[in-house]
Amino acid sequence: MVDNIKYWKQQSESTDKIGEYRQDEVIRFVVQHLKLSKSQTLLDVGCAKGNMLALLPAKKKVGVDFSMRYAKEARKNNPGARIVVAEAAQLPFGDGSFDRVLCHSLFHLMDIPYAKKVILELERVCRKKGRILIGDIPDMQDYPGGKLAYGIRTAFLERVGRPHYIMFKHGFFEERNYAIIPGPINPRFYAVKQK
Ligand SMILES: C[S@@+](CC[C@H](N)C(=O)[O-])C[C@H]1O[C@@H](n2cnc3c(N)ncnc32)[C@H](O)[C@@H]1O
Repeated sequence: MVDNIKYWKQQSESTDKIGEYRQDEVIRFVVQHLKLSKSQTLLDVGCAKGNMLALLPAKKKVGVDFSMRYAKEARKNNPGARIVVAEAAQLPFGDGSFDRVLCHSLFHLMDIPYAKKVILELERVCRKKGRILIGDIPDMQDYPGGKLAYGIRTAFLERVGRPHYIMFKHGFFEERNYAIIPGPINPRFYAVKQK
C-alpha cells in the first residue's frame, strides 16, 4: 500500500512546483460559495504559499500547511495572517474556531480513510452555522476512459509503489450532507456545507 500522505509531504518539502490557484474565476467562486466577507474568520487548510489566502477577504486569516517550506512563503505573502505547520487530519484549533473553512485542492492527495478524518476535522473547527468548502476534486465521471480506465491505472500505480491522485465519488460527500457543485474550471467538483 502506497503512503500517499508521506509521499506528498516529501514532495512539498522538496519542490517549489506545487500548483496554486489565483485565477479570478476561482477566487470569485470560492468567495461566493463560502459566503465569505471581510467580517468573517477564515481557515485555509493546505494553503501552500498562501497565494489564494492573500486574495480572499476575511477579518482574520489562518493558513495551515504540512510543509515548512510553503508555510515560510505563505507568511511572506500574508503578513497579517497566522500560518501554522500542521496536518489537515489533526488541526491544532479548538472546536468551532472559524466562521469559514476552506480546503482547496488537496483531497485528491489523500486516501479515503485519511480524507474521512480530514472531513471530521474541518467540521469540528467550523462554528455552528458556519460554512465549509472542499474543492477542487477531479471528477471520476469525466476521467478519460471512465471508471474502468481509472481502476486499471490506480491498480498499476499501487503495484509499482507510485502514489496517485485519488478520485472521490459525489456520494462520499453527499452522505455527509454536502451539496455538490461543478467548479469554474476543468472537470472538477466542489463540496459545500452549512453546518
Ligand atoms: C495543490 S496545493 C493547493 C494549494 C492551495 N490550496 C490552492 O488551491 O491553490 C496542496 C497544498 O496542500 C498541502 N497539503 C497536502 N496534503 C496536506 C495535508 N494532509 N495536510 C496539510 N497540508 C497538506 C501541500 O503541502 C500543498 O501546499
